[in-house]
Amino acid sequence: MSSSLALLGGEPVRREPFPPFPIIEEEEFDAVLEVLRSRQLSTFHSSFLGGRKVRQFEDEFARATGAGYGVACNSGTAALHMTLAAIGLEPGDEVIVPPYTFTATASAVLMAGGVPVFADVRDTDFNIDPAEVEKAITERTRAVIPVHLFGAPAAMDELLELAGAHSLRVIEDCAQAPAAELDGRKVGTMGDLATFSFQETKNMMTGEGGMVLTDDLDLAERCRAVRNHGEVLAWGERRDYRSALLGWNYRMTEIEAALGICQLARLGGFNQARIENAAYLTRQLDQARGLALPSPRSEDVHVFHIYAFRFLESEVGISRAGFLRALEAEGIPASGGYPRPLYENPVFERAGGRHLPCPVSERLCAAEAVWLAQVRPPAGIAEMDDIVSAILKVLDQREVLREWELRSDSDAQDD
Ligand SMILES: Cc1ncc(COP(=O)(O)O)c(C=O)c1O
Repeated sequence: MSSSLALLGGEPVRREPFPPFPIIEEEEFDAVLEVLRSRQLSTFHSSFLGGRKVRQFEDEFARATGAGYGVACNSGTAALHMTLAAIGLEPGDEVIVPPYTFTATASAVLMAGGVPVFADVRDTDFNIDPAEVEKAITERTRAVIPVHLFGAPAAMDELLELAGAHSLRVIEDCAQAPAAELDGRKVGTMGDLATFSFQETKNMMTGEGGMVLTDDLDLAERCRAVRNHGEVLAWGERRDYRSALLGWNYRMTEIEAALGICQLARLGGFNQARIENAAYLTRQLDQARGLALPSPRSEDVHVFHIYAFRFLESEVGISRAGFLRALEAEGIPASGGYPRPLYENPVFERAGGRHLPCPVSERLCAAEAVWLAQVRPPAGIAEMDDIVSAILKVLDQREVLREWELRSDSDAQDD
């Protein structure tokens, strides 16, 4: 019999916070100081193709992923907007996106003048369901944005086939999945364009930052122009302030690029630590009733930006909310994730996007999804052991927790 729940006054499994993230080593300090000493913090004004570090980072990131061209920018959101502007989205053009993702996947469509159309995800891997995408296609559809959510590759083969049949552009949102693989192919190399985020919680980070990858030189050049007010100036050309197309200022700084170069060199190790932590969690929790744990195919590489699983309330016998509260009290941060499908956010309701019925996303948001962000290094097996102990302790005490939940409910009704 495990000891009593911390929520009810017992001893918590873990008292100390999880180790700090992101991982920043001496190399990053040196690289940033080198940029500061050079006094070249941007230098876009002299070429518009970016400073020395920016161009090095673009080349190294594109090469490491296996794409032809990299265009660095200042966020994953900017990267998404750049790709949609680069394909020449027209007002009213529809872009199919999942409703179970971060806001930017869909808000970038609005930013580019398009209409987001939401198609449901699969509950096996939380990624957009090609069968739902097919139902969402109309004569206004121009593109689809699969998100490789939590680090798991989306069903690209089925999506590429649909895109081919309907002449759609495919933009992969790889914000949560750098170096993830589908059948030996890296995410970010399968669609027409791909976007990445290096915001500070991501698998590799530059504080804020982003990147577009593509094999298409014309699209890469259009992205570079959109990044820079629609102007592109090659080395040695005189600036004449000529904007060929509508652009923004989405330029990356040299400091961010210097951080990116260091982090890219260690991305393989960062991802490997996540994969090992995740595999350990899955092994230890495998027997727990009512938890649908992630089960990546052996041919793929899931890079576990988040360890997400489904919590089946009817099988476990307690609510997800009660489970999360009890875990939190045990010293384990966990969350229910996105609280609502994106189309329920006022911005998308107002902008007139449409959505197909999305029962899976609604169920994930309302009751099923559990996210553990602490799968990331420097946390290791000792921290995973605490997560496992806390989950098993709470599940073991489900009867006590259920009674406590019932009592709290009836107290609330008496108020
Ligand atoms: C799936 C997804 N797309 C896009 C973004 C936007 O990236 P950024 O925060 O760098 O703008 C994020 C994350 O923040 C994300 O998780």
